[in-house]
Amino acid sequence: MTEMFSLNGQIAVVTGASRGLGYEMARALAQCGARVYLTARGADQLEQAAATLREQGLDARAMAFDLADPDACLGAIAEIGAAEGRLDILVNNAGINAWEPLAEASTVTWDRVMGTNVRGPYLLCREAARLMVARGYGRLINIGSAMSVVGREKITAYVASKHGLAGMTRALAAELGPRGVTCNMMAPGYFRTDINTAILARPGYERGVSARIPLGRWGNPEEVGGVVAFMASRASSYMNGHILVVDGGLTETFVLPVDA
Ligand SMILES: NC(=O)c1ccc[n+]([C@@H]2O[C@H](COP(=O)([O-])OP(=O)(O)OC[C@H]3O[C@@H](n4cnc5c(N)ncnc54)[C@H](OP(=O)(O)O)[C@@H]3O)[C@@H](O)[C@H]2O)c1
Repeated sequence: MTEMFSLNGQIAVVTGASRGLGYEMARALAQCGARVYLTARGADQLEQAAATLREQGLDARAMAFDLADPDACLGAIAEIGAAEGRLDILVNNAGINAWEPLAEASTVTWDRVMGTNVRGPYLLCREAARLMVARGYGRLINIGSAMSVVGREKITAYVASKHGLAGMTRALAAELGPRGVTCNMMAPGYFRTDINTAILARPGYERGVSARIPLGRWGNPEEVGGVVAFMASRASSYMNGHILVVDGGLTETFVLPVDA
């Protein structure tokens, strides 16, 4: 049974793994036996994250680059391909949000969000797929959001980017499936991480969100690790083009903060 979840001997990349959800995904993949390349922009925090995993006996390496820089994306996958001769798992986790009412929204914000949340993952998928198709096996996992399946106000660029990433996931599932490479999305709901610092500071916000979630609480970052490890493993062999929402039931239910 445990064999189908084993990632022994596999090479994985997790973007945005210096903290938050990505760190927990990297930790889970490494615990299942993979050598994991952690990426992010900030080299110090990234090196520290990789060092912490190595102290736990895990195989973790840091690779700092900016996802918004196309050449850096191409270079990163080329470097891993040259060093390892293979790439089995790519987790496109890094992402940014920007709060802007539509009337105040700028194209600079739009381009920054799209460059990080869609173009970067697209380039990494494209380059990773070359290595995966050559060996007839691979797992592309894009990290979306509840905002990949529903919309909300004042974060138009983010919602558009996460819907775009969902569409890309389905397109790649169709194109790469016949060649042994699956592409799926894990879509988190609300988790306590840095990306939510601004909204967590708003009085009553955390409680208000919890009231809409059947599990009655925000997620803990550790709760995404096992899900992504499953998606990266052979246990998910017949799953392709799927959006797996991990949100405590937020988007699958209709919970109102009033008695029925
Ligand atoms: N937390 C939630 O509630 C939630 C909900 C739905 C979806 N998500 C999605 O889950 C993913 C992870 O979110 P999180 O909450 O863990 O965010 P986080 O705590 O803010 O961490 C983001 C990570 O991405 C890296 N990153 C940001 N911009 C980057 C860039 N241009 N190039 C390379 N790395 C970059 C950050 O490192 P540097 O800043 O050093 O680059 C950091 O490692 C995101 O795609 C987010 O949209 C999160």
